[in-house]
Amino acid sequence: MRQTVADLEASRIREVANAGLGRDDVLAFWFGESDEVTPEPIRQAAIDSLQRGETFYAHNLGLPELREAVARYASGLHPQVDASRIAITSGGVNALMLAMQALVDPGDDVVAITPVWPNLTAQPAILGGKVRCLPLVPREGAWSLDLAALRKTVTAGTKLLIVNAPNNPTGWTLTRDEQQQILDHCRQTGTWILADEVYERLYYAPTPKGCAPSFLDVSVPDDRLVVVHSFSKSFLMTGWRLGWLVLPPALMDGMGKLIEFNTSCASVFTQRAAIAALAHSDEITPRVVAHLKQCRDTLLPLLAEVPGVRVAPALGGMYAFFQLEGYTDSLALAKRLVTEAGLGLAPGSAFGPEADGWLRWCFASKDPQRLVDGVARLRTWLAAQAR
Ligand SMILES: Cc1ncc(COP(=O)(O)O)c(C=O)c1O
Repeated sequence: MRQTVADLEASRIREVANAGLGRDDVLAFWFGESDEVTPEPIRQAAIDSLQRGETFYAHNLGLPELREAVARYASGLHPQVDASRIAITSGGVNALMLAMQALVDPGDDVVAITPVWPNLTAQPAILGGKVRCLPLVPREGAWSLDLAALRKTVTAGTKLLIVNAPNNPTGWTLTRDEQQQILDHCRQTGTWILADEVYERLYYAPTPKGCAPSFLDVSVPDDRLVVVHSFSKSFLMTGWRLGWLVLPPALMDGMGKLIEFNTSCASVFTQRAAIAALAHSDEITPRVVAHLKQCRDTLLPLLAEVPGVRVAPALGGMYAFFQLEGYTDSLALAKRLVTEAGLGLAPGSAFGPEADGWLRWCFASKDPQRLVDGVARLRTWLAAQAR
């Protein structure tokens, strides 16, 4: 085993989930997925594909018709994206790893804006990158980016800047102006930007297109920019393992090779399902987002009323990220909440040391009553501590 791999920290979210394993009385909000099944037209397209016998290897970069469909979808949200710049991947996490494999050499300086989903810092470390964190600044339960700190941290020696906005876990999003400033700076330093925009449609500010600001809106195709997307969140397809990359033309040949040597291709029947998802995106995604907003608006006010809780409404994503006064070790707290309150939350420390003392609550719940019940459990547990 390479030492780098041996040194990887196991998932702290899993550690908490393991504490509740085998208990069906736990209300679990620890993982980042909805408990709602994939919409029927998407499932049917996969079934039809299998019935037709589409059980063979396919193109490295994805079925041409899916790449075209993704390009049309992306071009509806952003300036024109050509299908020749799209690579279909086996999930967003695979898209991220492929992008890192394309860009990160051992010893490369990689900067990640944190707190962030731990895969985004583990993946470059696996490749031997030297990962430095640029922490967001917490203010009144919300998080913001210090652009001056970014300019100081990302230098001419920095190979890659990793940005996830809308952000898991904090709900932090970037403004268009911030994106432009980051891009301008990285153009000067020659730094690649890896923009994880898998939550772009899970955005709660009113916008004409129902989409968070994207680096695709401010960049040109030849910029050193790779954008990562996923079918998981906006189409309720977490288990299908399908995502895509938007790449500069210069990376396409290399990406084809990398996909060949990683997975060879995404399976055809899931790609057929993805074509159906995109064909129905105007019905599916707005419904998913409206429901998530209802969940957010159910959870947030209740949570904010709990004594000791500091929380701000997330502008994007599907998480409430909050602080509980008097508790600094979020892993210990999350474990206690599972075992003593039957409430499953993710510890903030899973996302970066600056988020210790915070907890992440995934509000993607088919039945919002579960969220109400969860807050009641938190209240009861806290009241018992005060006695
Ligand atoms: C920030 C972020 N990026 C990427 C992913 C990957 O999603 P998937 O591999 O399911 O497409 C996730 C999943 O939770 C995520 O939170």
